[in-house]
Amino acid sequence: MGAPTILCISSYYKGNQFLETCKAAGWRVILVTRESLLGEPWNRQACDEVFALPTLFERDMVIRGVTYLARSRQIDRIAPLDDYDVEMAATLREHMRIPGMGETTSHYFRDKLAMRERCHARGVKVPDFVHALNDERINEYLDRIPPPWLIKPRSAANSFGIKKFHDRAALWKLIEELGDDRSKWLIERFVPGDVCHVDAISQDGRVLFAQAHQYRRPLMDVAKGGGIFATATVERGGTLEKELLAMHREVCGHFGLRHGVTHMEFICGQDGHLYFLETAARVGGAHIYDLVEATTGVCLWAEWAKLEMSQGETDYQVPPARKDHGGLVLALCRQTHPDTAQFDDPEIRKRIDLKDHVGLVVVSPSRERVDALLASYEPRIQKDYLAFMPEAPPSR
Ligand SMILES: Nc1ncnc2c1ncn2[C@@H]1O[C@H](COP(=O)(O)OP(=O)(O)OP(=O)(O)O)[C@@H](O)[C@H]1O
Ligand SMILES: [Mg+2]
Repeated sequence: MGAPTILCISSYYKGNQFLETCKAAGWRVILVTRESLLGEPWNRQACDEVFALPTLFERDMVIRGVTYLARSRQIDRIAPLDDYDVEMAATLREHMRIPGMGETTSHYFRDKLAMRERCHARGVKVPDFVHALNDERINEYLDRIPPPWLIKPRSAANSFGIKKFHDRAALWKLIEELGDDRSKWLIERFVPGDVCHVDAISQDGRVLFAQAHQYRRPLMDVAKGGGIFATATVERGGTLEKELLAMHREVCGHFGLRHGVTHMEFICGQDGHLYFLETAARVGGAHIYDLVEATTGVCLWAEWAKLEMSQGETDYQVPPARKDHGGLVLALCRQTHPDTAQFDDPEIRKRIDLKDHVGLVVVSPSRERVDALLASYEPRIQKDYLAFMPEAPPSR
């Protein structure tokens, strides 16, 4: 028997560390991506073969393409690298009877309506919501829930398509404009507050590693207003950290996650309540993994690759983790490859090397120091680097 084979599908350029981890473990690695991404700097040394399709969103095309490859290759695992590929990977696994997350579970990690309904049914607090489908239900909801309301696509990312309404007639106008696509949307109460996230590793239904962070500004403001993305470790051992980790664990259980990584978001409401916002079964975007690695020593991409290969069939151990505090700033930049030498604090652990972006990761035992550093970097980035592009978040 030859080496086992993992097929990775990705509709976005990311995840070289995932590919490298599989290759280093002695697996054969096949990458399937979109034609338009073939020129990206994928680590070809880590891939035995690379294939491309015009799109990875057309179910039949992808099934035909991947099963054609499987005529002459034994495929043992299928893994997604991007959020948009999580459901397609599940579809392929079920179609080809390959172990790993199946379609039902994958929907809880992609479809915001599925997430809301399951949480609501299981007593996890979520913003009041309604499917943008039935006229009577929508009207009953709008009678009951005060504005502002958000309308958002069930399965998009990067705040794409999210709109805020104070006025009922204006919201209805948009619903009418959506026509037969309205069932792909949901409406929910806008809950003012801070947005936090937990990035974690689970095996066999147990959360083995989880890190809580807080975005310095809610992502909707960053995406819509243009600006600096920043996030930092929540005070270790504090009440907020405990509450976030507990809600994360609970939601992973309700969604039926077995093995994998999660990126989960929460709103710490100004009303004092914690709300589940959304979750994904992949490594968090915008270089959050660099922050996690800098503060703990754990590389989420590598651990995710090991879990996807293992699927509970072979031993998996989470590496021991440090518990530093850290912060990350990332922004679109006027310079293609910016010179960041003006930032010279000893706490800088990483300068993010990403075209058209400026990004820094800082690490310190003190949360206050991290906050002070980020607060001092933001105006400097604003002045010397920041490029503005509406509806263009830093990176996935
Ligand atoms: N109900 C809500 N109340 C208040 N703010 C919200 C709510 N829903 C979304 N937001 C804001 O919009 C942002 C994006 O929302 P959400 O995470 O649901 O969408 P997304 O498209 O998956 O975005 P992303 O990929 O940036 O996480 C949140 O980070 C938050 O700032
Ligand atoms: Mg989100």
